[in-house]
Amino acid sequence: MNNCTGQGTKIVFYQDSKFIVYPSVYEPAEDTFLIADNLDATAGERVLELGTGCGILAILAAKAGANVVATDVNPVALECARANACQNAVDDRIDFRLGDLFDPVGNERFDVIIFNPPYLPVEPREKLNEPLELAWDGGRDGRRVINHFLSGLPTHLRPRGRAFFVQSSLSNLAKTFQFLEANGFEFKTLKKRLFFEEIFLFLCLKR
Ligand SMILES: C[S@@+](CC[C@H](N)C(=O)[O-])C[C@H]1O[C@@H](n2cnc3c(N)ncnc32)[C@H](O)[C@@H]1O
Repeated sequence: MNNCTGQGTKIVFYQDSKFIVYPSVYEPAEDTFLIADNLDATAGERVLELGTGCGILAILAAKAGANVVATDVNPVALECARANACQNAVDDRIDFRLGDLFDPVGNERFDVIIFNPPYLPVEPREKLNEPLELAWDGGRDGRRVINHFLSGLPTHLRPRGRAFFVQSSLSNLAKTFQFLEANGFEFKTLKKRLFFEEIFLFLCLKR
C-alpha cells in the first residue's frame, strides 16, 4: 500500500497531471518534457524507467496502460515518485525499486526503456556533494552513467523493443552514435537548443 501523504515543496503540471517534487529530487525540466512529448508506451507493454526522479515519466507510461518498473539511486526520489503515483491513481501499475541502473531488474527484459540520465560533464572541484547532484553529474566527460546504461541496454530490451533517452551535446554524442550502430539499433534523434548546450532525445529500436 502506498502512502499518499508525502509533502512537496514544488508542484509541476504536465497535460492533465500534477506532480509534487520533494527537496533533493530533480524538478522536471526541458529534458523530461522532450521525452514526455514523444513517449509512445501503450497498454500492456512492459516499461522500465531508470532514474525516475519524481516519477513523472513512469506515471505517464502507467497512465497509458503500461506495466512499469521505476528505479532510482536516490531513496527520496522513490518516496516522492510513490506519492505521485498514488496521487495519479496508478500506484498499482508501477513497481518502484531502489538501485543503480539495471541492478534492480536483474535479467528482466522490457518492451520500452526510458532514461533521462545525469549527462553533464562535472569536474571533481565543481562537486557540491548533495543528493540532487546525482541528477546531473555525469563525471568528467559527462558519460560515466551513459556508458554503463548503454552497455546494459541491448540485453534488457526485448526484440523490437524501444528506448528513449536524452543526452547533451556536451557529452560526446559521437560515442553514443557509434555504440548504437555497432549494436544493431535503428535510431533517430530530436534536439532542443538550451542556453549553453543542445539536448538530444534518442529514439531507438532494437532490431
Ligand atoms: C535528470 S534526473 C531525471 C528524473 C526524471 N526521470 C525526470 O525526467 O524528470 C536523473 C535521475 O536519475 C537518478 N540517477 C542517477 N544516477 C543513477 C543510476 N546510476 N541509476 C539509477 N538512477 C540514477 C537521479 O537520482 C535522478 O533522479
